[in-house]
Amino acid sequence: MNILVTGGTGYIGSHACVALLAAGHTVTVVDNLSNSRYEVLDRVAQIAGQRPLFFQGDVRDHELLRSVFAAAPVDAVIHFAGLKAVGESVAQPLRYYDCNVGGAIALCEAMAEAAVKTLIFSSSATVYGDPASVPIREDFPRSATNPYGASKLMIEDILADLAHADCAWRIARLRYFNPVGAHESGLIGEEPNGVPNNLLPYVAQVAAGKRPQLSVFGSDYPTPDGTGVRDYIHVMDLVEGHLAALNYLLDKGGLLTVNLGTGCGYSVLDMVRAFAAASGRPVPYARVPRRPGDVATCYADPQLAADLLGWQARRGIEQMCADAWRWQQHATV
Ligand code: NAD
Ligand code: WQD
Repeated sequence: MNILVTGGTGYIGSHACVALLAAGHTVTVVDNLSNSRYEVLDRVAQIAGQRPLFFQGDVRDHELLRSVFAAAPVDAVIHFAGLKAVGESVAQPLRYYDCNVGGAIALCEAMAEAAVKTLIFSSSATVYGDPASVPIREDFPRSATNPYGASKLMIEDILADLAHADCAWRIARLRYFNPVGAHESGLIGEEPNGVPNNLLPYVAQVAAGKRPQLSVFGSDYPTPDGTGVRDYIHVMDLVEGHLAALNYLLDKGGLLTVNLGTGCGYSVLDMVRAFAAASGRPVPYARVPRRPGDVATCYADPQLAADLLGWQARRGIEQMCADAWRWQQHATV
């Protein structure tokens, strides 16, 4: 099949391209390169032995999408393109709603016009807000505490309406927990701009000596060691979940909503220790107050994905850290 991957030069999108090519699909990428680099396509080609067809541009550009769908028949779309920095979304809400919600609507319009109605969407565990309990099931209440999260909620609702309006649509809403790690080759990985917001890229830069120490946000959470607990999932497990979702949609159709997580929660200090062990480098840290908006504990119940997709995450935190470290040693950042 030919799969259109929006945001295909980004962190998760580039790993999805590798997995799709390895599974024998052809891949077309649309990315405006606002948070990624053209050279990622060379790396994907180096790993997969085949190069995606690339269109540089914005998913909100109707003419561009028309030309993409006209260039080669598309069987399904995986929509990663969007803005993802929570703090930035608070400062620039209109930019986030325009890019994320406007981008999803423009993409669906172009898909409908091209009669392509199979779509996988990157949602997030952020749609669960501050969960009342863990593990988190898909039927838990949803809420948003920032414009980024609100944009994911809105898109989820738009896609549900679309699936209800026209049963020809086959739509997956995949709720990612905390994607980390990199392809085992060390050739592709996460490239944060400036100071990393997320834990693992920050820890990797501390281990590499690029930053003096990690600030551990909060030591008084109701967790075993007082630091925040999350469900870290290896990015290759995550993208394999997309292939399973694609197979499900082609077979069963309808609207699919599933968590992509491991079901295991690890604390900030667990991750610091695992990274120090994987890298053989010290990871100095200082305890600082809580980061506003953070929740104490967040991890998935991954049972529905196992039941419906026959998928489960296979890689542990040792491999997540080892692969993130290999990538960090290649990274230009
Ligand atoms: P990323 O920033 O690395 O990748 C997104 C890509 O989309 C980038 O290459 C960027 O240049 C491109 N892009 C952004 N806006 C665009 C637009 N309007 N038109 C075309 N291209 C555009 O982010 P990522 O970590 O790979 O995340 C991919 C998706 O997964 C996002 O939708 C994100 O919200 C979602 N997600 C990510 C995480 C995470 O922790 N990384 C967790 C849950 C959900
Ligand atoms: C993990 C833990 C921090 C940095 C975010 C988004 C979420 C989703 C994934 C897209 C927490 C602690 C972190 C640091 C620290 N993205 N931490 N020092 O907050 O779970 O989720 O990314 O959908 O929407 O909110 O991930 O990696 O930022 O934090 O102590 O320098 O590490 O407090 O406990 P988070 P994270």
